[in-house]
Amino acid sequence: MVWVAREPVSTPAQIKFAALPAVSSLSEVLSSYSSVVVTGGSSGIGKSFIELLAKLKPSLTFCNLSRRKPDINVPELKLRHFPCDLAKSAEIDRTFSEVVAYLKEIAPTGRILLINNSGFGAYGHFPEPSLQHQLEMLDVNIRAVVQLTGVYHNLLRRWAEV
Ligand SMILES: NC(=O)c1ccc[n+]([C@@H]2O[C@H](COP(=O)([O-])OP(=O)(O)OC[C@H]3O[C@@H](n4cnc5c(N)ncnc54)[C@H](OP(=O)(O)O)[C@@H]3O)[C@@H](O)[C@H]2O)c1
Repeated sequence: MVWVAREPVSTPAQIKFAALPAVSSLSEVLSSYSSVVVTGGSSGIGKSFIELLAKLKPSLTFCNLSRRKPDINVPELKLRHFPCDLAKSAEIDRTFSEVVAYLKEIAPTGRILLINNSGFGAYGHFPEPSLQHQLEMLDVNIRAVVQLTGVYHNLLRRWAEV
């Protein structure tokens, strides 16, 4: 969401707000990116991310990490699926090597965008539906996000030349 001040401002909070630089559009932000690593592109919001970003920048290369393969109907979509159960730490490490090898070949320059999207919830009285479900939820929603960000961090920084 982008907020734009239309009237002269007076309160300190508004003055501070008005001094903020203009927010770039998503298309502008994407201009320096060549590839996207997304988790959970097989459905819902993750799938919509791929569809939207591919529409905004068709040259983007997508690497999807999820258990199911995405079924996305976008012409000439550059998408590679890396089967990965994010509840399993070893699978994140294994797919990282595969993703790096793939991107080095397909998109060796340009920035890489990491979208940590995979996740799920639980409903009912704790520990419904099961303790196993609760623990897997922590693994996917929290541990995997920290692990992915940590494992990909150097790669994202190096390729971004920051
Ligand atoms: N929709 C909402 O209103 C809402 C609200 C708040 C937060 N969120 C969060 O937004 C994210 C996307 O939600 P959504 O509505 O798009 O959910 P969704 O349609 O159920 O999609 C969830 C995605 O997460 C992936 N995923 C689940 N467990 C995984 C695992 N063990 N390993 C790898 N990938 C796994 C699934 O892929 P596979 O099954 O193929 O593995 C799927 O692509 C989730 O993190 C969710 O918690 C959603």
